[in-house]
Amino acid sequence: MTSKATTWRATVLTLFPDMFPGPLGVSLAGKALASGLWVLEARDIRDSATDRHRSVDDTPAGGGPGMVLRADVLAAAIDAADAAPGGPKDRPRDRPGDRPRLLMSPRGRPLTQSRVTELAAGSGPLIVCGRFEGVDQRVIEARGLEEVSIGDYVLSGGEIAAMALIDACVRLLPGVMGKQASGAEESFSEGLLEYPQYTRPQEFEGRPIPEILTSGDHARVAAWRRAESEALTRARRPDLWAIKSGQNRPKNTTDG
Ligand code: ADE
Repeated sequence: MTSKATTWRATVLTLFPDMFPGPLGVSLAGKALASGLWVLEARDIRDSATDRHRSVDDTPAGGGPGMVLRADVLAAAIDAADAAPGGPKDRPRDRPGDRPRLLMSPRGRPLTQSRVTELAAGSGPLIVCGRFEGVDQRVIEARGLEEVSIGDYVLSGGEIAAMALIDACVRLLPGVMGKQASGAEESFSEGLLEYPQYTRPQEFEGRPIPEILTSGDHARVAAWRRAESEALTRARRPDLWAIKSGQNRPKNTTDG
């Protein structure tokens, strides 16, 4: 079989397919979607329910509040997505199982720019949006779902988290941002926060643009930006700064 390049595709399994494309349908991601640079497929988990009430959830085993998404219904929804036209079986680059299968969940591993870069470089993930109190653990294991969190706070469902993840990937796809992408990207992947930016007017409410930035001296501008990035990272993100300063330590020093 000859392998053909495929368009990056995000398949989202959700109980609220009407939430999509939502913000992904406007601005940068929306323009790229309209011009076919990527594909969004939102599938209703409820279409895989089998009883006459189309139920997707049930009470938690062992008791407790809320409802849990049923393993059988969600597994059927994942299998149906794999079998759908345009799904993995039609796509030489990702046989079923090759495609990352993500579950948006506050108990997942925190999403990072490096994971986003990996996901953008592939042919696109299948993303399950959790709701209720959670998802039956057995389907997480049986379908190899990778739990992903977008931060230490609880949203009412995984849809907005999925949109954040997709947006972060789409802006990295070839042709979506052109040259603009590189600067900000490098800054984060280098493990530092971005330096402050300024534009006209030259003075705003008594605050001038820092003089260095209008000096035309590119080396001084670069040094100033680097120092600002480092100071911001140290103050706001000691976790990132600890990694960064660890990397910069000379390799041949001996401890103690
Ligand atoms: N669903 C609810 N809260 C979430 C979070 N913080 N990250 C990912 N998915 C979620």
